[in-house]
Amino acid sequence: MPRYALITGASSGIGLALAEAMARRGQALILVARQRDALESIACELAQRFGVDVLFRVCDLSEPLQLSGLLHELEQSGRQIEMLVNNAGFGNSGEFVEQDWSREQELIELNILALARLCHAIGGQMARNGGGQILNVASVAAFQPGPWMSNYYASKAYVLHLSEGLRAELKPHGVKVSVLCPGPTRSAFFRNANLEARRLDGSKLMMSPEEVALVTVKALQRNKAIIIPGWRNRLLAWSPRMGPRWLVRLIAGRVIRSALPR
Ligand SMILES: NC(=O)c1ccc[n+]([C@@H]2O[C@H](COP(=O)([O-])OP(=O)(O)OC[C@H]3O[C@@H](n4cnc5c(N)ncnc54)[C@H](OP(=O)(O)O)[C@@H]3O)[C@@H](O)[C@H]2O)c1
Repeated sequence: MPRYALITGASSGIGLALAEAMARRGQALILVARQRDALESIACELAQRFGVDVLFRVCDLSEPLQLSGLLHELEQSGRQIEMLVNNAGFGNSGEFVEQDWSREQELIELNILALARLCHAIGGQMARNGGGQILNVASVAAFQPGPWMSNYYASKAYVLHLSEGLRAELKPHGVKVSVLCPGPTRSAFFRNANLEARRLDGSKLMMSPEEVALVTVKALQRNKAIIIPGWRNRLLAWSPRMGPRWLVRLIAGRVIRSALPR
């Protein structure tokens, strides 16, 4: 039986581009997301183009019971997962206290809890088997607070810190952990977060999901700890360290507010 890479959020954007880049390198895949039709046609296409085994599982990862079902099924199947890509995630924008709590809770369930649970279950399995690799998708947002996207920015800070911690903990067990921190990337992300991406469209910061995926698969081969595609995004990620926190909050808040719909 082949050994699989399980990729969450593989029905579009960065997850889809990572799935394609990995299939191109001969990696068998298990794709996870909510949209059955999209997953089915992507699995079929990747299997045909690259001659690899591509399975898919429909799961709303923000629903703990569905996630339990997925983990149970994976365990029962005996399929070995050699790579876990925790990519599924979304953002929300606007004043935190004005948002529907259900949406903010869903964000925490998906961006934080599902990711942590998958790291715990599959990372634990990898450690017992003596090896594996985990890639968690954070963001350049992980390096600073983000007023008017406070919950999203905080969720990505969690992903960055959890990943760095697990990298040290799991190293003696032969499990490699990396964290991907993309900058603005052309995908459904902005529409789903209720942000106007038009201002960023011409920006040199904006990358395609395929560019992000290519940088990522190369960095994974080198077992890089923190992967930030593009030198401009690396500058963006490290710049908050240069100034005082009040200035970082002020600038981040102004940038995010300017992208809110009027
Ligand atoms: N685009 C950017 O500028 C950017 C920048 C930095 C970081 N990121 C991060 O990159 C990751 C991928 O985002 P993207 O830009 O590729 O956006 P995207 O195109 O909207 O992709 C999000 C993926 O997550 C899946 N997903 C969403 N909710 C889900 C749920 N409840 N259960 C299971 N799957 C779910 C979606 O599939 P279904 O709808 O089929 O479920 C989709 O495949 C996210 O973690 C995001 O925070 C994006």
